[in-house]
Amino acid sequence: MATTDFIPSTRFRRLRQSPALRNMVRETQLSTHDLILPIFVDENLSERQEIASMPGVFRETEQSLSQCLQQSAHKGIQSFILFGVSHHKDGAGQDSMKKGGLLDRMISRAKDAVPDSAIIADTCFCEYTDHGHCGPLAENGDVDNDRTIENIAKQALISAEAGADIIAPSGMMDGQVGAIRAALNRSGFEQIPVMAYSSKFASTYYGPFRDAAGCALGQYEHVAKDRKTYQMDPANAEEALRETEQDILEGADMVMVKPGLAYLDILYRVKDTFQMPTFAYNVSGEYSMLKAAHAQGWLDYETTMMETLLSFKRAGADGILTYSANDAANILNQK
Ligand code: PBG
Ligand code: ZN
Repeated sequence: MATTDFIPSTRFRRLRQSPALRNMVRETQLSTHDLILPIFVDENLSERQEIASMPGVFRETEQSLSQCLQQSAHKGIQSFILFGVSHHKDGAGQDSMKKGGLLDRMISRAKDAVPDSAIIADTCFCEYTDHGHCGPLAENGDVDNDRTIENIAKQALISAEAGADIIAPSGMMDGQVGAIRAALNRSGFEQIPVMAYSSKFASTYYGPFRDAAGCALGQYEHVAKDRKTYQMDPANAEEALRETEQDILEGADMVMVKPGLAYLDILYRVKDTFQMPTFAYNVSGEYSMLKAAHAQGWLDYETTMMETLLSFKRAGADGILTYSANDAANILNQK
């Protein structure tokens, strides 16, 4: 005898019975066009070097950058964001504002290697400053906002002249988008879009990146060991919306939420509120955690990674910056 006489009429499982049915009703798709691959370029290396905390991710040499880009482009990835690993650092990060500096060289080389791809210039100073902060320091030891945005406009022009297709300021300085937009407009680059890291949180998920890019904080006694005076407090969602709105007012063409997984609520709200082209940064720590769990045999890297990337799309991302871009493209291409 049945213990209940309730027979469900609504049965969600009807549409889950076979791959064909599941494929028919799937709401969210991931494609290689959604993927943006970050690449590290070290000016001192003669051979590409795997990053210990990010298995499968390399510091490229200036020479190996070309092949690295071409191989990914061949898989269907069409946008790339470049990070310099500088060995010419000073208090202001002047190397990145110079013709012939690492930033200039790596952007030109990238553009030559894959002229049809979108080359995104990460626009910030922490990879080029000796203290590791995202701009020159004021007397009080904190980053000097207005000197930084003055410099960041110069850095953006170096990238634009080198052929960058998109300028992506990541320093969280007030007015950085406006300063860059004005400088680009004044110099004949009014067609170059700005992808603003609008809500970038002061996150410990960036740990492996700082290692990879050689921009760890803490080597100087008197200098802050975190970025909490400019990156956002992880507790604040309303402020993330105001940061994003301000970037849009200053001329941002695309906005970003960073990190990704722990900030899906922000991503959803940003997309829902502004309907802008919106990007999520699946940061270094998110990658490293998955790789570490995989190495222990606790999680399967590939399937967990694909589920994670899909979650960004479902939450509203138009694209994802991810160190897993090559792996994801390989999987998508097999389908
Ligand atoms: C530098 C920058 C950082 C990342 C991208 N650009 C590090 C930071 O702000 O400390 C983090 C990327 C990652 O963790 O994958 N402005
Ligand atoms: Zn920075």
